[in-house]
Amino acid sequence: MLNCLVRNVSFPGKDKTYDIAIHQGVIREIDSSITAEAAKELDAGGNLVVPPFVDSHFHLDAALSLGLPRFNQSGTLLEGIEIWNELKPDLKAEQVKQRAMEMLRWSIARGTLAVRTHVDVTDPSLLALDVLLEVKDEMKNWVDLQLVAFPQDGLLRTKEGKELMVRALEKGVEVVGGIPHFERTAEEGRKSISWLCSLAESHGLLVDIHCDETDDPNSRHIEHLTYETLRMGLGERVAASHLTSMHSMDNYYVSKLLPLMAESSIQAICNPLINIHLQGRHDTYPKRRGLTRVPELLNAGVNVAFGHDCVMDPWYPMGSHDMLEVAHMGGHCLQMMGTEQMNLLLEMVTTRGAEVLNLERYGIAVGNPADFVVLQAKSVMDALRLQPVRLFVFRRGEVVASTPPSTSTLNLGGETSSVDFHLKR
Ligand code: FE2
Repeated sequence: MLNCLVRNVSFPGKDKTYDIAIHQGVIREIDSSITAEAAKELDAGGNLVVPPFVDSHFHLDAALSLGLPRFNQSGTLLEGIEIWNELKPDLKAEQVKQRAMEMLRWSIARGTLAVRTHVDVTDPSLLALDVLLEVKDEMKNWVDLQLVAFPQDGLLRTKEGKELMVRALEKGVEVVGGIPHFERTAEEGRKSISWLCSLAESHGLLVDIHCDETDDPNSRHIEHLTYETLRMGLGERVAASHLTSMHSMDNYYVSKLLPLMAESSIQAICNPLINIHLQGRHDTYPKRRGLTRVPELLNAGVNVAFGHDCVMDPWYPMGSHDMLEVAHMGGHCLQMMGTEQMNLLLEMVTTRGAEVLNLERYGIAVGNPADFVVLQAKSVMDALRLQPVRLFVFRRGEVVASTPPSTSTLNLGGETSSVDFHLKR
């Protein structure tokens, strides 16, 4: 007898509904009508099922620290970094852990079950890193947490930055991070990239660089990162996060850059919520949106994923770790509302994110772990438009989060009726 049978789910782009058979945490069968008996049956009501959401760029060490020790009044990246540096010496392991655990509880409720989090390793105590390694282990049954050793204050700009990076890797971090545009000079930025890529190459690790998170079109570290990716043959092991300067770059230069990126197999991460919030802050009008060139990167053959980046921290006061909110913002700011583009938006918070994280056995397929999310929606468009309730979040065949369907009841002149915000015709 099967452990569980989920009946009547819709897959994106498919007309008929399917059943999913689960046994011992693994998807055993997917078919339009499964007759086997199961210990537990659940009717999904024809609602849409998607793989768990993947957040390919997050800062779990800072999440939910909003207002500590003060709020960001200018809304700039640099004031955010100042505030974080005021908080950093006072970080207490217990509080960092409590915030991280609470954040991940929100993530799970939203169906976000894989998170790549950068963790600041320019604090000589490496306190936040030790805490997040603990959190990663304690939460591994529910969330795949991938840690990036991130030199927030600059690798070369921080006293003993290189030593701290090496120590972080010795503790078991799997991804090497960097922030070349924040080093003292462009030349130092390039040197940091070369050093970090060599380190990742020699340790067999992944790379994820905060790259050109600025409106300055002359910030071109992506070119050097791409070059080093090619030269060392690192390929899809390397991701470039943010890339906001590409928004402002000269079109002719970008026409050379895009094929070079595709040739190297480097992956790109855009953070729509945070980029639209932080970029263009030195502009009067017109104000640049600052998001990197996502449709053009995709057209060039570069894999792109979306990250949430921040939730209620020194950089961003909003958010609840809902990757559909990220995709919704991306659709607006990047003007990706064509039907095929909407499918891409969903991919960038699911399958394309899984590619960036190099996740194995990801996706709703026979033989894979039974990890998926049933949304209160019938189509991809409705999933993006409504960011609907996550009716059921499955992890290894168990329902780890559930939320009752949302309905509104109207009372118009004594006559009651319900509204569910789906187009009926
Ligand atoms: Fe970031």
